[in-house]
Amino acid sequence: MSNYHIKHLEEYWQVYRKSVRNPESFWEEIAEEHFLWRKKWDNVLSWDFSKPEIKWFEGAQLNITENCLDRHLASRADKTAILFEPNNPDEKAEHITYRDLHRRVSKMANVLKSQGVKKGDRVCIYLPMIPELAISVLACARIGAVHSVVFAGFSASALSTRINDCDCKIIICADGSFRGNKTLDLKDIVDKALENSPGVKTSLVVRRTNTTVVMKEGRDVWLDDLFDKAEDVCKATVMDAEDPLFILYTSGSTGKPKGMVHTTGGYMVYTAYTFKNVFQYREDDIYWCTADIGWITGHSYIVYGPLANGATTVMFEGVPSYPDYGRFWGIVEKHKVTQFYTAPTAIRALAKENLNFVEKYNLSSLKVLGTVGEPINEEAWHWYNDHVGKKNSPIVDTWWQTETGGIMISPIPYSTPTIPTFATLPLPGIQPALMDENAKEIQGNQVEGRLTIKFPWPSIARTIYGNHDRYRDTYFSAYKDMYFTGDGARRDAVGYYRITGRVDDVIIVSGHNLGTAPIEDAINEHPAVAESAIVGFPHDIKGNALYGYITLKETGEGRDQDNLRNEINQLIATRIGPIAKLDKIQFTEGLPKTRSGKIMRRILRKIAGKDTENLGDISTLLNPEVVKSIKNNALV
Ligand code: PRX
Repeated sequence: MSNYHIKHLEEYWQVYRKSVRNPESFWEEIAEEHFLWRKKWDNVLSWDFSKPEIKWFEGAQLNITENCLDRHLASRADKTAILFEPNNPDEKAEHITYRDLHRRVSKMANVLKSQGVKKGDRVCIYLPMIPELAISVLACARIGAVHSVVFAGFSASALSTRINDCDCKIIICADGSFRGNKTLDLKDIVDKALENSPGVKTSLVVRRTNTTVVMKEGRDVWLDDLFDKAEDVCKATVMDAEDPLFILYTSGSTGKPKGMVHTTGGYMVYTAYTFKNVFQYREDDIYWCTADIGWITGHSYIVYGPLANGATTVMFEGVPSYPDYGRFWGIVEKHKVTQFYTAPTAIRALAKENLNFVEKYNLSSLKVLGTVGEPINEEAWHWYNDHVGKKNSPIVDTWWQTETGGIMISPIPYSTPTIPTFATLPLPGIQPALMDENAKEIQGNQVEGRLTIKFPWPSIARTIYGNHDRYRDTYFSAYKDMYFTGDGARRDAVGYYRITGRVDDVIIVSGHNLGTAPIEDAINEHPAVAESAIVGFPHDIKGNALYGYITLKETGEGRDQDNLRNEINQLIATRIGPIAKLDKIQFTEGLPKTRSGKIMRRILRKIAGKDTENLGDISTLLNPEVVKSIKNNALV
C-alpha cells in the first residue's frame, strides 16, 4: 500500500525519502492504487530537461472525467460534488450531486460534439464562477477537447490574444456576470474580442444575468436551448496519459502570454494526491477554495483535485465584500466549511475591516486554512491564524505556479509545524535546490538563492503552446538540468523554505502575475507617451502595486497630467484588464539606462519603494542625471 495519506511528521519524512530515492516507483504505486485507467502505462517516466521532454505514464490510457465523476457513482452518487454559492446571498445555494454533475457534464459534452468539437480541438471558456464553468471544463475533458479558460476579468484585447494564440474555433461565454452589486456585460467584451478573432465560428452563450445582448446570426447560440435537447449520456473519449488536457495562460516577463500546456495522466495523479495531503481531506469534509477557475488554483484545487477525491467543492460566484465584509465567514458558517483556501491579498483586505465581521460567525467547522499566490506577510498570517483559525487550524502556505500544475512546497497540516511566512517543506516527489549567481547549487541550510527543481514531478507543464523554444529558454536554460521557477527563496536552519518573491520582471499584484512588458506596451500605445517602465512597490492590501515612470513626447508636454494618467490607465484596462492599472504614475524627463540602452529597473524599484539611500553605482549609466530628478519628484 502506498502511504497516500500522510498523518504525522515522521511519516512525511519516510514518504519523502522514499519519493526521492525512487520517484518512479513512488508515483507508480500511487497511480496504480488510486485511479481508474483504461490501460496501464508501459513506462512510468522518461525525461530530458535539455530538450526539454517529460513524459509520465507513457502508454497509459484514461479519461480524467471517469476518475472525477463516473467512478464515484457507485458509492457517492447522491453526495454533493459542487456546492454553488451565488453572488446574491438571498439566492439559494445549489447542491449539485455527483449523479447530477455527471449528467450535466455529459449533456454539455454532447452539445460540444454537436457543434463539431473533436478530440484535440481547443475550446475557449470565458465564464463567471457559475456551475457551467466547471461543467464546461469537464465536458471538454470528457471528449478530449483542450480547454483554455480565460479569467472573465480580462479585457477584450487580452481575450482575443489568447483565443488567437491557440486557435480556438469555439468559445463558451455568458451574457453577463454578477460581482457584488455590479453586473458586468461579458457578452459585450466577447463581441469586441471576436472582432479580432475571426477564427471563432461559434459562441455558446450561457444565460446568467438576463441582460440584453446582441446575438450574431450564424455565430452566437444560447446554450440552454441546445443543452435541454442534448442526450444525457456521453461516452468518455479514451486519452493517452500525455494527451493535452488544457492550456492556461500566464504572464511572462516579456512578450505575449505563455500558454502553458498540461497533460492528462500525471496532472490527475499529482493534483489528486496533493489535494488529499495538503488539505488532509476526509470523506465528509466541505472544502472551499475562493480562487477563480480562470486561474491554475481553480483548475487544480476547485475542479480536478477535489473531484478526483470525490470531495464536495464549494464554488463562490461573488466577492468577499458583498453584501459586507463578513461574506466569506458567513459562507463558512452556513456550509460548515472544513478547509478554506484563499489568497493573502484577500486576507489583508478583510483584516482591515472591523473584527465584528469575522467574530459574529461560528467558524468552528474549520480544520485547515490555506494561502496561495504570493508571499504572506507576518501580520496577515497572524490575523488569519488568530481570528479565522482561532489558533486551532494549521495554516498551509502553499507555494506553486501555473507551470507546476500542483502545490510544490507546503506544510502538511497536523504533521509539519508551521512558521509564519514559511512555505516549509517540499511535498513528496519534489526536489528543490537553491542556486547562486554562478549557477552553482548552494548546499546546506541558512542560505538564500534562486529556487529551482531538480527532478520532474507528474504535473509539470510539458510545453508552451506553439512555442517549445520559449519553454526551454524560460525554464530550462538558466541552470543545466533544472527547472527554474523565477522565484528567490531562503532555506532556514531546519531546511524550511521561505519564498522571497520573483527575481524576474513579473510583478504579483493581488496574487495576479503581471509581466511588465505587456503593460509597458499598452502604455506606449498612448500617442503622448515616448517611453515607460513599470516596477512594483509594497502595498498594504495588494502585496505589490504598480508604479509607472513615463516619459512624454513633446506633444504630451503641457497636457493636464491627471487627464493623461486617467487615459493611460484606461488604455491598460482595455488592453490587459483593470487589475493591471497603475497606482502611481510619475512623468519623468528620461529613464535611467545602461550604456547598452537597457532600463535600470533596479534603481526605479528602489525609488518607488522609498529606498533611496543606497542606489548603488549610477556613474556608469548613460544618463546618471535623470536619477536625481526622478528621486526628487518621486510620488512617495
Ligand atoms: O512568485 C510565486 C508566487 O506566485 C507565482 C506563481 O504565480 P501563478 O502562476 O499565477 O500561480 C499562482 C497560484 C499557484 C510564483 O512564482 N507564489 C505562489 N504561491 C506563493 C507564491 N509566493 C510566495 N508564497 C506562496 N505561497
